[in-house]
Amino acid sequence: MKLGVNLCFAVKRWLEPDRLAGLVRDDLGLEYVQYTYDLTDPWWPDIERDRRAIAYAKAFRKAGLTIESTFGGLASYTYNHFLAPTLELQSLGYQHLKRAIDMTAAMEVPATGMPFGSYSAADALNPARREEIYAIARDMWIELAAYAKRQGLSMLYVEPVPLATEFPSSAADAARLMADLDGRTEIPVRLLVDWGHALFEPLFGPEADMDHWMDLCQPWIAAYHIQQTDGQLDRHWSFTQPGVVTPQRLQDFWDKYALTDQTFFAEILYPFEARDEDVLADMIASVKALKAASPAA
Ligand SMILES: [Fe+2]
Ligand SMILES: [Fe+2]
Repeated sequence: MKLGVNLCFAVKRWLEPDRLAGLVRDDLGLEYVQYTYDLTDPWWPDIERDRRAIAYAKAFRKAGLTIESTFGGLASYTYNHFLAPTLELQSLGYQHLKRAIDMTAAMEVPATGMPFGSYSAADALNPARREEIYAIARDMWIELAAYAKRQGLSMLYVEPVPLATEFPSSAADAARLMADLDGRTEIPVRLLVDWGHALFEPLFGPEADMDHWMDLCQPWIAAYHIQQTDGQLDRHWSFTQPGVVTPQRLQDFWDKYALTDQTFFAEILYPFEARDEDVLADMIASVKALKAASPAA
């Protein structure tokens, strides 16, 4: 399997670009990277934001690493963005992703993505409001795909999330979004499927199953987040923990579907209060466990 890492584990800890690049290459022994908006906020003033983001991009390139994409992290996920209850708030979601596209282009990274958006509690219960808000959001993504192309990007990603108040959450939702965008975007908009989201049993029941996701969405899935989980909450545990996503299961899935390029980005979150040395040791052990199951990695 093709392993990579989302830099979320490093947030607030390893901020120096050369140190972080060295940590990924030498301590983790990985080549493929997904950069998180939690390192440089797309809303920061352009000049300072891009100077900092470019410093990371250069350090990673110098270390021989490939940043395949940038992606929304915890800070970005806090907001409702494209499915917010007013047009003004939706437009701020549009501007957020537009600014993230600018940052990604400045880094010379070819793709970016984030979850699509969150409804308010009231809108989530109202099917007519859902459709009305969704239609605006869908058209905003079509516009942003055109903008991303002009900025030099070649792909946008949407990450499904395990909440019924958001969209897309189920595999059927994700397939609907892909069908609605199909042929209407100037660059491809594809799915990034997070294993811990897809396997969330309280919402999906028997459909919390990766084969079900592949049945409905396989042609659209361009990358994955991997994390350890018990299927009962969105855990983002590392692979040193027991759970339902074993390294062997990941490798078997990779082989079963003859995947080639759909990177498995480890997206591991630690408590902010965890000690830096413990986080690093656990990340090293986690990647080692993944590699042990993967003859090619
Ligand atoms: Fe994720
Ligand atoms: Fe998650």
